[in-house]
Amino acid sequence: MKRSKINMLLKSEAPDGNVLIKGWVRTRRDSKEFSFIEINDGSCLKNLQVIADNALANYEQIKNLSTGSAVAVTGKLVVSPGGKQNWELHADSLEIISVTPESYPLQKKRHSDEFLRSIAHLRPRTNKYGAAFRIRSELSFAIHKFFKERGFKYIHSPIITGSDCEGAGELFKVTTLDLENLPKKDGKTDYLLDFFAKEANLTVSGQLSAEMFALSLGDVYTFGPTFRAENSNTRRHVAEFWMVEPEMSFCDLTGNMDFGEEMIKYLTTYIMEECVEDLELFGKFVDKKLLSTLENIASADYTRLTYEEAVEILLSSGKKFVYEINFGKDLQSEHERYLTEYHFKKPVIIHDYPKNIKPFYMRLNDDGKTVAAMDMLVPGIGEIIGGSQREERLDVLCSRMDDMGLSKEVYWWYIDSRRYGSVEHSGFGLGFERLLMMMTGISNIRDVIPFPRTPSNVEF
Ligand code: 4AD
Ligand code: MG
Repeated sequence: MKRSKINMLLKSEAPDGNVLIKGWVRTRRDSKEFSFIEINDGSCLKNLQVIADNALANYEQIKNLSTGSAVAVTGKLVVSPGGKQNWELHADSLEIISVTPESYPLQKKRHSDEFLRSIAHLRPRTNKYGAAFRIRSELSFAIHKFFKERGFKYIHSPIITGSDCEGAGELFKVTTLDLENLPKKDGKTDYLLDFFAKEANLTVSGQLSAEMFALSLGDVYTFGPTFRAENSNTRRHVAEFWMVEPEMSFCDLTGNMDFGEEMIKYLTTYIMEECVEDLELFGKFVDKKLLSTLENIASADYTRLTYEEAVEILLSSGKKFVYEINFGKDLQSEHERYLTEYHFKKPVIIHDYPKNIKPFYMRLNDDGKTVAAMDMLVPGIGEIIGGSQREERLDVLCSRMDDMGLSKEVYWWYIDSRRYGSVEHSGFGLGFERLLMMMTGISNIRDVIPFPRTPSNVEF
């Protein structure tokens, strides 16, 4: 018999005399004649109630089934008289696949997030994390759907690269050299003897590759893992995270902001429609205001203002920030959150930042001081998107690279693209985990990625 998934059975329209389910015991209670067993198979938040009566041959074992044990049940799906659920399963047979001993850590209903992080291999078995990772899966699909509907091509940008896109030096090295015995030349490591015959690292962004493909396929995107050896222990940074990076030819900064806003609204609406039950859990137990926040994000007109205007608002806010704010300095998360959560109370896009706090590839504005950058900030998180119009003028790009001390030899191929058929183009990076934090109200990024990588933590 073919196994049915519980989410489909719970949507049944008529009873079914012959079904098979497989899953794990969540709870069990016994009466004189029956055991009521709640089974979850991960297909949805809800459990299916199985009723096993004492006539079953292995009832003695069933009566002792522990939380977390795995079972296969065949039986009759019937309307549940209790009213708590629409359907229940009357077991004709219940096969015990494996029995979980008392040491199983998930006996209690509720555990702290910190504790669950220490057993990240087991936490998807809880309601909250099961829901979070089902939403994560739906959200990935929605991203591909959004781009597909708009004619974008999906590019697999490399994970191992020879360049530092963001120029922040937060690189994880990739090497096959013997670290105990490094080959030296003139006192320095001789990378000519390394696997790639030059320095290599894990990518911090797929953007530079995406630009090359936008300049041939038009509208493209990447969606993959990126790595940053940033030694910051905050609730919105991890060392390995996924980034969605659209890159569009013939698109300026305004087009880029419009597209970012359209994308966030689309994805929010999608999740509100497709993940109703899982979202309800977050609205109930994690963030009481979640659903109204998401409605606001899906429908508001996002405020757009320049970096200069943003700094003025912060300076005249009268609020005491931990980090001082002044022109020419990057905004900190507390500043971003003040703007989006308290001042505007909706998503905010800040554009035209000072060039000295932004990477080399951003297009220089006519004032010579700012670049055509844009960051989108959302309540609860702060920056969720970082992007820009790209510098398409060969001479301006080269002089910017000179100013910043970047090697034209390393980036020769990037510079080439400005030589041959260069056009106005723009793109951005959307942090996938930060987007998930926004969708679920989960306040720590470590809790929306299966196995988080942070300083001193690469367990699992
Ligand atoms: O602003 P960032 O650094 O932009 C770029 O990397 C550009 N090259 C993207 C592009 O234009 N194609 O990063 C983009 C986004 C941030 O807004 C944030 O959401 C996320 O990536 N992000 C992180 N998420 C989790 N942990 C970290 N350490 C992150 N660093 C950036
Ligand atoms: Mg950024």
